[in-house]
Amino acid sequence: MTGDSRRRHSSQIVDGIPKAPARAMLRAVGFGDADFAKPQVGIASTWSQVTPCNMHIDGLAKEAASGVDAAGGKALIFNTITISDGIANGNEAMKYSLVSREVIADSVETVAGCQGFDGLIAIGGCDKNMPGCLMALARLNRPAVFVYGGTIRPGRNHTDIISVFEAVGAHARGSMSDADVAEVERTAIPGPGSCGGMYTANTMASAIEALGMSLPGSSAQDAISDSKRDDCRRAGAAVLELLERDIKPLDIMTREAFENAITVTIALGGSTNAVLHLMAMANTAGVPLSLDDFTRIGQRTPVLADLRPSGRYMMSELVEIGGIQPLMKRLLAAGLLHGDCLTVTGRSLAENLADVADYPPGQDIVQPLDRPIKADSHLRILRGNLAPEGAVAKITGKEGLRFSGTARVFDSETECMQRILDGTVQAGEVLVIRYEGPKGGPGMQEMLSPTSAIMGRGLGQDVALITDGRFSGGSHGFVVGHITPEAMEGGPIALVETGDRISIDAERDEIVLHVSDEELQRRRAAWTPPPPRYRRGVLAKYAHSVSSASEGAVTDRFD
Ligand code: FES
Repeated sequence: MTGDSRRRHSSQIVDGIPKAPARAMLRAVGFGDADFAKPQVGIASTWSQVTPCNMHIDGLAKEAASGVDAAGGKALIFNTITISDGIANGNEAMKYSLVSREVIADSVETVAGCQGFDGLIAIGGCDKNMPGCLMALARLNRPAVFVYGGTIRPGRNHTDIISVFEAVGAHARGSMSDADVAEVERTAIPGPGSCGGMYTANTMASAIEALGMSLPGSSAQDAISDSKRDDCRRAGAAVLELLERDIKPLDIMTREAFENAITVTIALGGSTNAVLHLMAMANTAGVPLSLDDFTRIGQRTPVLADLRPSGRYMMSELVEIGGIQPLMKRLLAAGLLHGDCLTVTGRSLAENLADVADYPPGQDIVQPLDRPIKADSHLRILRGNLAPEGAVAKITGKEGLRFSGTARVFDSETECMQRILDGTVQAGEVLVIRYEGPKGGPGMQEMLSPTSAIMGRGLGQDVALITDGRFSGGSHGFVVGHITPEAMEGGPIALVETGDRISIDAERDEIVLHVSDEELQRRRAAWTPPPPRYRRGVLAKYAHSVSSASEGAVTDRFD
């Protein structure tokens, strides 16, 4: 391929006399004469001071830019937004969280489309900015590499952000003092990097590496490390190679690649949010993927990693034993991954794994395939009269596989949180939090505060929580989210009354409301949707355009 064909997009912006104004503008930001003949690579940085997961990404963006420039391209760094679930969780602010994924995808697409970048590097370090970046890369379909910002180190006494959330519940129960909470608050977050367990950020980073869109090893590096800086520089060289060979994201983001991402997510015990985000990314890539694919793959895929929130170890400890590449090699050898999928190295997944060494002997973070933590997936797609279009549960088995209890209904997360903390919620109850779906919330907020409060109050084995909202990757306990259709759309969850009996069976993948069809019909006839909570601004716009959670809750689906 010639240099000109690598400059398919930038040539339209900067070549020829009519484009002198664009060149004049670019000269002011540092372009010299020779730079106009180079492929332009946009570097989408999610740098922000608002959260530790992204506070270092400006430095990583500069490393990636140096990699691009050293490989013969011309890098331009631009920013998109990010938000922090760790800060927003537990109040109205959280309604903006999933919305931010769409804003990020839209903004990266908008800048790249306007600027005429030939290739892209996107650097993300938090739950929503990673799928948001991948959605933008798929929409643009220009040679691209994703770089993960890297994980945080553990806090004092092996703590992390979830330790702080659970301290709040423990304080309400009386088992932690004000001083104890203050100590955890001051020491759990020691510096830059994404939340430290196999929560949503580390889950999505791992899924993206398995998808083939980041360089091998990118998902398992400390945020502040030589290996992360090296990953950034190598991404710069990789995107030039992809430009040379005209390998684009949609060549990589195939159905088989998404199956690899799902398999690795399950083996790592990853977050329920991966279901939502992988569905959204697949939708954007035009890859048919349904909730049933998670069930099918989950039947053959064991959970192997003993990582938080349900397990013992943190991501930085997985980093120390080699990250996810040895795990992927084991899965490939067992026939659980598609080895011929193309990746951003320009080689296949199997070729990338060929020289990867196995985990060191004696480690017990990743179990062998013949001694799994759970023989099949912890991510369960449940159906039944309460969720006819599906629901997503994270059932590790530690909480049991079945739960039957009496419904206690809340029309918002805030109301539920108050009743957990004041002791109203009792053992044997199924807490129903509704009108928190994509349209109803709007924004499908995470229920990390209630699940942490349940744990903190010592009710983890005795209370289930179901919702048309979703969960943090840090949530654990007997929890079912993404119930569809959501309450705002008139789904059966809108018809539940306090005192009804609800059964959840994670072996039969069922969620059942034990109320007769006649009674449900009577309730439906009396039901009217509540007024929208927002009539102006981005939340109103989002509620108007968002699709069902069972389709990934996307806002750009018009077919
Ligand atoms: Fe960003 Fe947890 S809040 S990774």
